[in-house]
Amino acid sequence: MIRDRNDLLIGAQKVAPSGNDEIDLGALLRTLWRGKLWIILCSLIALAAGGYYALFLATPLYTTTASVALESRQEQVVDIESVMSGLSGDQVTINTEVEVLRSRRLIGKVVDDLNLVADPDFNATLRDPPWLSLDAIGNVIGRAATSDPIQSDQAIRDAVINAVLEQITVSNVRQSYVFNISVVTGDPVKSAQIANKLAELYVEDQIVLKFEKTAEATEWLTERVADLQIELETSESQLKDFSSNTDLISPEGLIALNRQLKDLRDRQVDVAAAAATHRARVAELNAARAANDPAQMATIAADARLDQLMTDDDPEAFQQRFEEVLARAIIESNRSEAQQEAIALSILELTDSIQTQSDELVALQQLQRETEASRLIYEFFLSRLKETSVQQGLQQAESRILSSAVMPHQPSAPRKTLILVFSLVLGVIGGAGLVLLREVSQNTFRTPEDLEERTGYAVCGQIPLVPARDRKKVLQYLQDKPNSAVAEAVRNLRTSLLLANLDKPPKVIMSTSSVPGEGKTTQSTALALNLAGLGKKVLLIEGDIRRRVMNTYFDVPEQRGFLSVMLGETTLDEAVTHIPDMHFDVLFGEKSQTNAADIFSSDRFGAFVDELRDRYDYIIIDTPPVLAVADARIIGRWVDTIIYTVRWDHTSRRQVMDGLRSFEQVNVKVSGLVLGQISDRGMKRYGYGESYGAYQTYYDA
Ligand SMILES: Nc1ncnc2c1ncn2[C@@H]1O[C@H](COP(=O)(O)OP(=O)(O)O)[C@@H](O)[C@H]1O
Ligand SMILES: [Mg+2]
Repeated sequence: MIRDRNDLLIGAQKVAPSGNDEIDLGALLRTLWRGKLWIILCSLIALAAGGYYALFLATPLYTTTASVALESRQEQVVDIESVMSGLSGDQVTINTEVEVLRSRRLIGKVVDDLNLVADPDFNATLRDPPWLSLDAIGNVIGRAATSDPIQSDQAIRDAVINAVLEQITVSNVRQSYVFNISVVTGDPVKSAQIANKLAELYVEDQIVLKFEKTAEATEWLTERVADLQIELETSESQLKDFSSNTDLISPEGLIALNRQLKDLRDRQVDVAAAAATHRARVAELNAARAANDPAQMATIAADARLDQLMTDDDPEAFQQRFEEVLARAIIESNRSEAQQEAIALSILELTDSIQTQSDELVALQQLQRETEASRLIYEFFLSRLKETSVQQGLQQAESRILSSAVMPHQPSAPRKTLILVFSLVLGVIGGAGLVLLREVSQNTFRTPEDLEERTGYAVCGQIPLVPARDRKKVLQYLQDKPNSAVAEAVRNLRTSLLLANLDKPPKVIMSTSSVPGEGKTTQSTALALNLAGLGKKVLLIEGDIRRRVMNTYFDVPEQRGFLSVMLGETTLDEAVTHIPDMHFDVLFGEKSQTNAADIFSSDRFGAFVDELRDRYDYIIIDTPPVLAVADARIIGRWVDTIIYTVRWDHTSRRQVMDGLRSFEQVNVKVSGLVLGQISDRGMKRYGYGESYGAYQTYYDA
């Protein structure tokens, strides 16, 4: 007969498993608080480690700073802006200078000047090889070391420069041309030396650089000047040659020649007129002679002697005289003709000469101009060359050292307080992490709250661990100490079971659990003892017939069990053993050929249990673990209440969940969970001490 057990079940209302994934801050803080001892321990260890490192392990480092200022506006004695452009003084310059200060060239000079290659602090090849290194491991394994032990001097110097560079920080003071050179090494003297050397070399280097630049400019200018000088000399000699090869010509001379030409032209006109007159007289005389008229001849001849001769009437003489006059006229005419020709020739010559001279003048002037230009350029460059040469001797750096680095007295690192604070923080974080990790990785149940939350079943009892391991002694303890915490816990369990349903109090109670050794049998016996103590008629049935342990509790001879009763081989009265000093009856299990599950499945078992209900006030059935065999699930169908024991910090969550689910699958409801064998010391160790221990001491009092 299957009863409607639902209304009988205690704690059957499944606590809804909290499904929210939100992190419960309170729970988190509680967990951390519980693990406070661990956190404190971790912090102390970290603090000790940090302290040890800061005080004994870490090499002290000394920082020192030198500063140099860049003078952006520099007064120059000679303006040679055209030769070298000055600094613009913007961010580009600042960045450039920072890079210059950190340049390998400059650091290389520092390395050379201070002979840092010979310093084991910077030259790794001079250091003893660390006892644990890749090479060392390689050698142990038997593999040839990868790095070549013999390095070239250049490679070593490069490595040293790198090492020095790592120790140097160059920074620009904001809104200024001031640069701080900070050096960190393990030696205060070395730090100061390097910083000062770098500052010094930087300033010096600028002079050298400028000197080189000026020297370069001078060199270029010298070359240029030499070229120009040759050029000038060539044009000057050309001019000289030209002048010596030509007449002394000048614009004034040319003007005089022109004037001369004009006079000649004037004279030419006069001579031409005279020639025309002479020619006309000859023609007239010839015409008069042809007419042979002495009067006319005399008139034209206009000669006083001829007039005389005509008056004398000496025709012969007259004729002769006339011939003389004519001859003279012809001579005059010829002469003026010749004169005219001579003048024309002169004009021609003069014009020619003027032309030549003016051409030469133009050429001369051009040559003069060219020479002048050459000279100007030459002089310009020459003066530049002189300026630059002067500048060369007057070089001054664009930077100066503002403050030299002083030898630090206190190491800048390790910063002990910082390291201690940091390790403390790390320790706290590590400890908290450890606690949380332990909480997360915890696989068992330690608190009833956790058990309820994860399973969804109510916890109706918490049984502490009895300070005895032996079965008999456990029972003895319960008997002897009715005021102990364990006895009180069993009482609480009983109360929870009986009061869960006041209308119909449960009569048949089954004790089960996931795996063996969780305390099913102990719980059953303790409950039987407790209920019998109330004066009730109680029967304890050993349902775990595969692993029978009941008779070790009670000093009674081997008895026939409930199987024989069920099969009708004996009567109940014959089979039941009464335990006198405990006041309850026990029905032992017994070996059987039949499969236990089949026996419990049979209706006969149901009928048997029902029969017992009439004879006893309470029937308590101990069962085998549910994950091992199906028995408990089958017996569960016939009982009113099922208590499911979970061993504290022992049974895994998975086992508990699987066991509970196997009941759900066959629709048998577990009424409540019992967290068993709770260790007081363990609870304290896990940090649950306060809440649990409080009532523990109360009962022990
Ligand atoms: N509360 C307890 N305190 C001390 N020992 C216990 C307690 N509960 C069980 N034990 C011991 O644990 C062992 C297994 O208990 P038992 O009840 O036989 O478990 P199960 O029946 O689940 O296999 C026994 O030796 C028992 O004495
Ligand atoms: Mg058992």
